[in-house]
Amino acid sequence: MAGQGEEVRRILVINGPNLNRLGARDPALYGTLTLRDIQERLEERAGEMGVELLFYQSNSEGGIIDFLQEHSPGAQGIIINPGALTHYGYSLRDALADTRLPIVEVHLSNIYGREEWRGRSVIAPIAVGQVTGLGWRGYLYALDFLAAHIREEEG
Ligand code: DQA
Repeated sequence: MAGQGEEVRRILVINGPNLNRLGARDPALYGTLTLRDIQERLEERAGEMGVELLFYQSNSEGGIIDFLQEHSPGAQGIIINPGALTHYGYSLRDALADTRLPIVEVHLSNIYGREEWRGRSVIAPIAVGQVTGLGWRGYLYALDFLAAHIREEEG
């Protein structure tokens, strides 16, 4: 609970192309939980931490950029699974950098253990760090880290 004069910490949780298909899409790689299931687990954890989350999923890069431009001014951090945009989404990268917010990049699968082209992220250099290959729990670890990181940065 935020005390008087204390800002509520808001974190944007963004999922890129095809992540609306979680649960049905290649469960051996991405798990059986839907995006809604993951969102519920994150909401529960965020509630315990007194952090507010704003969720967004889009299959289009422009949609994510519009969301970032609109909502990043009121947020303190970003958790993003950019899907395949990870590997070539330069305008997404520019938009993320423009927010000047701390970013944690999340991948359900281990992008370094798959096709070679997945082992390159154009987002990673502007992120604080990356969680990859830890399934849906990766989002929770990202939230734990980011909440602590934001508190430290704010002093
Ligand atoms: C992914 C990995 C990407 O390479 C892929 O295009 C995705 C999902 C992951 O969560 O493992 O859509 O970001």
